[in-house]
Amino acid sequence: MPLNLAVFVSGRGSNLEAILKAIKAGTLDAQVKTVISNEPGVGALDIAKQYGIEPIVHPSLRVSRQQHEMRIEESLQAFEIEYIVLAGYMRILSPSFLQNFHDRRGFNRVLNIHPSLLPAFPGTNAYEDAFNYGVKISGITVHLVDDKVDHGPILAQEAFSRLANDSLADFKARGLAVEHKLYPSVIQQISEGKVHFYECKR
Ligand code: GAR
Repeated sequence: MPLNLAVFVSGRGSNLEAILKAIKAGTLDAQVKTVISNEPGVGALDIAKQYGIEPIVHPSLRVSRQQHEMRIEESLQAFEIEYIVLAGYMRILSPSFLQNFHDRRGFNRVLNIHPSLLPAFPGTNAYEDAFNYGVKISGITVHLVDDKVDHGPILAQEAFSRLANDSLADFKARGLAVEHKLYPSVIQQISEGKVHFYECKR
């Protein structure tokens, strides 16, 4: 049975596209039931439409977190969502929202991809932060979401190098190529019932 996903986005949507491509290619046994954005007019909305999904926009500007999440919860009721996939979703989800996706195995069925080797460089500008720090190795993390920012049990990490003459754009492009392979492959593992992580003690 394909895994039922809701993908949350806020921007360009290249990870959404990678997931939809993998589903189309038959390498990811999942269905994107809905795409929800907190930002109107972003590229991810066009990508959803290209794949026949009518995205839902719930603007978060000037709306309380509680009100915003209530609207999302109402939209999600139309679908039997098994996992939420955060793909560049730049909002924190509250503990009460996450509770709806709590799994008896002791984690939330909410995934995030972050462009650094967590716990290094959390936040919204990880590529810039790692590059400006002068790292020689960086990487991509896919993790289960808990109630802290860019935090929770790690499912997968893949490293990539910063090469001597890299511009920030080169560095980001190398990282994004890793993101676009890693996210669909981790979701496929989950679809096969494989969820493996070490206990997150800090
Ligand atoms: C990606 O690089 C993703 O890893 C990052 O936002 C970008 C979204 O790009 N997420 C975070 O920084 C989460 N803290 P996309 O809209 O093209 O998928």
